[in-house]
Amino acid sequence: MRIVFLGPPGAGKGTQAQRLAEAYGAHHISTGELIRAAMASKSPLGEKARPYIEEGLLVPDDLACELAEAALAEHGYDRFILDGFPRTLAQAAWLDARLQHLHKPLQVVLNLVVPDDAIVERLSRRRVHKLTGENYHLDYNPPPPDIDPALIVQRPDDHPEAIRHRLEVYRATHEPLEQYYQRQGLLVEVNGLGSMEEVFERLVTALKQQG
Ligand code: AP5
Ligand code: ZN
Repeated sequence: MRIVFLGPPGAGKGTQAQRLAEAYGAHHISTGELIRAAMASKSPLGEKARPYIEEGLLVPDDLACELAEAALAEHGYDRFILDGFPRTLAQAAWLDARLQHLHKPLQVVLNLVVPDDAIVERLSRRRVHKLTGENYHLDYNPPPPDIDPALIVQRPDDHPEAIRHRLEVYRATHEPLEQYYQRQGLLVEVNGLGSMEEVFERLVTALKQQG
């Protein structure tokens, strides 16, 4: 299983990639999560990424590819669900070259489609666990009551200004990526609206249809 997940900020990529990874015994690789972990540990890479993340802008391609390479290598370039990578054509070309060299090409690119109003509602109500990075939603997936409330925080890029930038960046970069994977016959569109279970079932069905 070698999958890429595309979709706007707050589409549910992380939520669903995590569930699919558990269901299929694959590895969920989120470059966003890797960057946030690097920022939390104040590593040089994290410090380099920080100003981009806090503004809601993409980090430079070389930084994103470096993180993806390390995570892919750790799992033998197989049984992965990439969430939030690639985000530019340069990253997509890098990934293709890397995987083709290893004779392990991508099998499917899932494109999660969610309208803007649902995105803003999801992101403004999202909370994350400060230490584990676990995702919650105050209404649809609230943090368990036994967790210390001080550990439940908002992401550094979930403030209105960064959300606006992230949506702008998504609009400017998504279409070329979508076309790139459409030309390769890999793109499968999935409706991301509805409950987390409904979306999960749609994704499972889409994967079955892909064989
Ligand atoms: P990243 O972490 O990838 O953020 P994003 O793309 O903005 O997406 P999100 O994580 O916000 O949303 P998601 O689709 O994962 O949704 P989630 O499941 O959390 O990247 C962050 C930043 O890192 C980027 O802006 C960029 O700066 C940088 N970066 C990362 N990768 C990069 C790269 N390759 N190149 C350059 N820069 C890079 O769900 C959202 C909320 O909705 C949650 O609260 C969840 O509980 C809830 N929810 C989920 N599904 C449902 C549902 N069906 N119904 C109701 N609520 C739901
Ligand atoms: Zn995410």
